[in-house]
Amino acid sequence: MTATVITGIGELTTNESELGTFGDAALVFEGDRIVWVGPSGNAPDADEHLDVEGRAVLPGWVDSHTHLVFAGDRTAEFADRMAGRPYHAGGIAVTVNATRQATDDELARNLRRHVREAAAQGTTCLETKTGYGLTVADELRAAKIAADYVDEVTFLGAHLVPPGADATDYVDLVSGEMLDAVADHVGWCDVFCEEGAFDADQSRRVLTEARRRGLGLRVHGNQLGPGPGVGLAVELDAASVDHCTHLERSDIDALGGSGTVATLLPACDLSTRQPLPDARALLDAGATVALASNCNPGSSYTSSMAFCVTTAVLQMRMSVDEAVRAATWGGARALRRDSGDGAVGVLRPGARADFQVLDAPSATWLAYRPGVPLTHAVWRKGDRVR
Ligand code: NIG
Repeated sequence: MTATVITGIGELTTNESELGTFGDAALVFEGDRIVWVGPSGNAPDADEHLDVEGRAVLPGWVDSHTHLVFAGDRTAEFADRMAGRPYHAGGIAVTVNATRQATDDELARNLRRHVREAAAQGTTCLETKTGYGLTVADELRAAKIAADYVDEVTFLGAHLVPPGADATDYVDLVSGEMLDAVADHVGWCDVFCEEGAFDADQSRRVLTEARRRGLGLRVHGNQLGPGPGVGLAVELDAASVDHCTHLERSDIDALGGSGTVATLLPACDLSTRQPLPDARALLDAGATVALASNCNPGSSYTSSMAFCVTTAVLQMRMSVDEAVRAATWGGARALRRDSGDGAVGVLRPGARADFQVLDAPSATWLAYRPGVPLTHAVWRKGDRVR
């Protein structure tokens, strides 16, 4: 196997407690693993050598929340929203219709296009969800297509009660036949626990059945108003609760005392004209915070993790270090991929060789130069993808 040493790193963010972030650094990778990280002067010899001339290097973004198995477009809905119409969960049905009509090939091509778009911007580990099928056959095909292109697949049959369906019957279907059909193809189950989607009892039932089938749990909670999502996620020890836009003090305290990651989706809040989540209160309470894009055609049509980091720093009172960590290690923690052999979101020996080089001397430039594309090069599993 060829070993490659990267030298001349102006600032290296490792997300490791001992090494932290330091200058004049080097890293070595071999195959798909990092094998050495340390000061440039101590770097071991390698077969190949690349000098990044003072640029910053950080782990690839870990985008732990997207909805990329879809067809169709909701530009008109977005334009209406910018003209003052509020976002509501019912828009999901528009994408459900288009997705059901698309061929497998169309869905796969669209997914691949978005995965490549994300990779070109530094995203090296990606989760995506089903949830625009809402029949057993359509959810199963979404799960299978997703499994070919992303690191983690989440079943979101409980995204919306399909128009015309009875809510009780639909929850029966999702927590029984649908889960049975998809369970071998996904690692996670998620529920949109929100007024207009699924209430706490319905959500608990789906999640409990998912756990019985060996799936990890996540929850869409507190997106459009205060509600039971965060409490339910903590009660069930879900890996993450995503959105967290409208939090009560008790939600913040519950997250602070739990192992459930609070995944914040600032691009979604901006695109739906919601307030931005109180990241500061969450961090101060001791919660683990992740940042993710929520890339989907309705509420957040961006794959840019850099945009999320920039927003978190400029508008959510997160420091650059906190925001970068949330978009890398935080996402990895939300996906329970932060430790062990092949961990992501960290740069240490044994971690996956997933990293990005910024056209900037430090990660601070992500906020200092908002909106400027700073991705210089990206490696995923040791392969240069940009
Ligand atoms: O995370 N909240 C529910 N699901 C998506 C929205 C999907 C859509 O509007 O199509 C979200 O924002």
